[in-house]
Amino acid sequence: MNYSRINATGSYLPERIMTNAELEKLVDTTDEWIQARTGIKERHIARDDETTCDMCEQAALSALQAADIDPNSIDLIIVATSTPDLIYPSTACLLQSRLGITNGSGAFDVQAACSGFVYAFSIADKFIRSGSIKRALVVGADANSKILDWSDRGTCILFGDGAGAILIEAAQEPGVYTSNLHANGAYSHLLQVPSGVSKPTDDPFIRMSGNEVFKFAVNAMGGIVEETLSECDLDKSDIDWLVPHQANERIIKATAKKLGMTMDKVILTVAEHGNTSGGSIPLALDTGIRDGRIKRGDNLFLEAVGSGFTWGSVVLKY
Ligand code: UT7
Repeated sequence: MNYSRINATGSYLPERIMTNAELEKLVDTTDEWIQARTGIKERHIARDDETTCDMCEQAALSALQAADIDPNSIDLIIVATSTPDLIYPSTACLLQSRLGITNGSGAFDVQAACSGFVYAFSIADKFIRSGSIKRALVVGADANSKILDWSDRGTCILFGDGAGAILIEAAQEPGVYTSNLHANGAYSHLLQVPSGVSKPTDDPFIRMSGNEVFKFAVNAMGGIVEETLSECDLDKSDIDWLVPHQANERIIKATAKKLGMTMDKVILTVAEHGNTSGGSIPLALDTGIRDGRIKRGDNLFLEAVGSGFTWGSVVLKY
């Protein structure tokens, strides 16, 4: 039986930090409101000339350095992003070239908004389980600041920029126990960027019915806990760490409660990163691994919800 396991992780955050105090000068909000309603204190913002692929490259290089492997041994590259550098080629193809990978490995992007990393991880896991590849680089990254309306207090306070990467490879034992992907397009109007290539409009920014997204997210995250754990024959008490999508501390607390976990078993980065969409879970994972909280052999529960709506989870032994 083939399984996939994480070999190494990496991440990158842009240098510039934007605090809630700065946002107080842009929109009618307060540090107190933002912290109380979201848990966010600050977020990182990419330079004008800094792209999603730039962030992917740094995150991937840090994972490659940690793994100490030849980049040309990577059989597949998947980038989860909603803010690609170009319409095409994909950010994954641009990344392949930046990393000097010349082995002809497959490379493509996945677009599932804030659930993108969970989608990409699940796809890569299935490629490895099927035996068709041995090693994959999965990167989640978004430059949300480029699609934010800085006069909309309902959205501009929430998002940040960043990237995280994992190298996964074939193993004889888990690794990934199971993953679940879901979507319900009937909710597409509640969280969207209402402009695109074949349907351009004069509104290229993130628009969100925050409260409705919030309610859906809490329900979806609660539901997926039961579904995923029953599939892999694990009990809530077997999970060592919850590594959730970092959208709002209140949503994360509700999910932790559903798992019966105290907050000291949750990797929480939302205060410093804000919501980095595709980047948020791999950034949190890399944070927890590098600061020594997540150890080899720990069981991790990764879960996300995002525009679409999309939602999903990955349960794995690190
Ligand atoms: O990653 C993808 C998924 N995205 C999410 O998970 C985001 C989910 N949603 C949320 O995190 C929350 O809904 C928000 C943080 C966006 C908003 O929190 P809320 O507790 O749901 O607030 P609300 O939208 O119900 O608004 C409550 C009040 C409103 O004022 P009134 O109508 O009661 O007078 C808003 O206008 O708060 C007001 N408000 C703000 N006040 C100060 C909304 N944004 C702000 C703000 N500063 N930035």
